[in-house]
Amino acid sequence: MTARDNCFVTRRLPGAALERLAAAHDVTVWPGELPPSAADLRTGVGDAEGLLCLLTDGVDAAVLDAAPRLRVISNFAVGCDNIDVAAATARGIPVGVTPDVLTDATADLSLALLLAAARRLPEAAAAVRAGAWRTWEPARWLGLELRDAELAIVGPGRIGCAVAKRAAAFGMRVHLVGRGDDLLAALATADAVSLHLPLSAATRHLIDERALRTMRPSAVLVNTGRGALIDQRALRRALVEGWIAAAALDVTEPEPLPPNDPLLEAPNLLVLPHIGSATVAARERMADRAVDNLIAGLAGEPLPYPAAPPAG
Ligand code: GLV
Repeated sequence: MTARDNCFVTRRLPGAALERLAAAHDVTVWPGELPPSAADLRTGVGDAEGLLCLLTDGVDAAVLDAAPRLRVISNFAVGCDNIDVAAATARGIPVGVTPDVLTDATADLSLALLLAAARRLPEAAAAVRAGAWRTWEPARWLGLELRDAELAIVGPGRIGCAVAKRAAAFGMRVHLVGRGDDLLAALATADAVSLHLPLSAATRHLIDERALRTMRPSAVLVNTGRGALIDQRALRRALVEGWIAAAALDVTEPEPLPPNDPLLEAPNLLVLPHIGSATVAARERMADRAVDNLIAGLAGEPLPYPAAPPAG
């Protein structure tokens, strides 16, 4: 029988995956509904060989320093910008993520946001609740028709390509914008832009004032990647001053976005609480992958779903 290791899990997870982990190892699950504080995280990893964490947990060098026995980090997310992967790699600690199983859920939500922004759902729904729905109006609430509209998918990875398939089914003209492509040229002609990039030093605030001013006044912007891909101060101006028509965001900087954040003053904006992968199926499969990574790492085996090596 192999030795049981200590695992610190930073939140209860859906499905039965944690029971599988507990059958093989000693598991401590952070009991809170909110994430552990930085200090609680450092305490939690103090005697842990395995860490299963969420995108809400900042795993930096200080956390790693507090975890002398740590042999594997498993993130319950496909992104890993909450983890200092370079620092973990330097300590010989592999980092795992949960790809593929959330691709469809996130692509579905991207289409929901695209349709909501294109057809002005936030403003229209608010008007009904506010008693501002006067009558059926031939020239009010006019939006963007998806058929023949040009969609720029910035970041044509797994999720971006799944969005492309769905958009093609709506009759959209899809323009995949990869690393080597001219982003501003793509933004200049797009009717809709959807962001699907990981967050890194190179992509932080990629959509800045210049990019937003390059977009068409009739264009809509969707983000299901990471909030910091967009400079939100510039986005607020873009929405309020009409540089673009609307935006729909599943991710913001910070998360949660405080209810008094100036961005939320824009009427042509929909913000969701980072629910791209929030289907029963996706979250249960993410938990399975996260546990698969942890068990493999503790056994000294290669992780089945490793994070990409740090850039540079
Ligand atoms: C969600 O944003 C994830 O990275 O899984």
